[in-house]
Amino acid sequence: MNRIAALVLIGLMMVLGGAAVALAGNLEIPQSVTLSPKQFQGYTPKKGDVTFNHASHMHIACADCHHTVPDTYTFEGCMTEGCHDDIQNRAEVNSVFRTFHTTKDTTKSCVGCHRNLKKQGQGDAPLACNSCHVK
Ligand code: HEC
Ligand code: HEC
Ligand code: HEC
Repeated sequence: MNRIAALVLIGLMMVLGGAAVALAGNLEIPQSVTLSPKQFQGYTPKKGDVTFNHASHMHIACADCHHTVPDTYTFEGCMTEGCHDDIQNRAEVNSVFRTFHTTKDTTKSCVGCHRNLKKQGQGDAPLACNSCHVK
């Protein structure tokens, strides 16, 4: 390995190591989180908010749901601006609806995973609208 490549590698290791330490130091893992479309101004929600029982999903790998962590080392909200922030459209990847309900994805999508488990006869992760959406 030449000297420049070695220096770049050391620099990279310092950056990555620093981020990992910062993450471990400050991370508070919530017991439950409420997801609400109320953050979208001018949008009238069709369903109630979803209070997600984070604690009961801890047997699933963090990065399955928090899929940006390997890149950013941060746990952003799903509907953060620039992420899944389209509350009107249902077709695109950034669609709020598609993010949580698509059955094409079985790791990150709430309904996608629950439906896949049901198909395999495992557990009883709920699929009824109002088991997630509570008025
Ligand atoms: C089944 C999916 C799922 C799994 C698995 C999961 N989380 Fe989460 N987590 C969520 C959702 C959904 C939120 C709420 C995000 C939002 O507010 O938009 C959240 C929120 C968080 C937050 C708060 C983020 C903030 O903006 O304040 C942290 C920290 C977090 N999770 C850490 C973890 C860690 C660590 C693990 C693994 C031990 C983990 N999560 C596993 C889905 C998951
Ligand atoms: C990768 C798979 C997976 C994903 C993704 C997932 N879940 Fe679950 N969920 C489960 C499993 C497994 C159970 C437990 C079922 C059982 O008790 O047998 C569960 C249970 C639940 C329950 C009922 C029991 C409880 O803990 O409250 C609710 C409500 C729920 N999930 C909501 C959500 C929501 C909302 C999301 C998306 C933010 C989500 N889930 C994402 C696998 C998943
Ligand atoms: C496993 C959990 C889960 C199930 C089951 C589920 N959803 Fe959702 N849904 C969510 C999450 C999480 C969001 C994003 C947060 C929010 O909007 O409250 C969402 C958002 C929505 C939105 C956009 C926001 C709004 O309220 O207008 C609509 C519409 C919606 N869901 C309709 C439905 C309908 C209809 C059903 C039943 C056919 C259903 N959902 C079943 C988890 C679920």
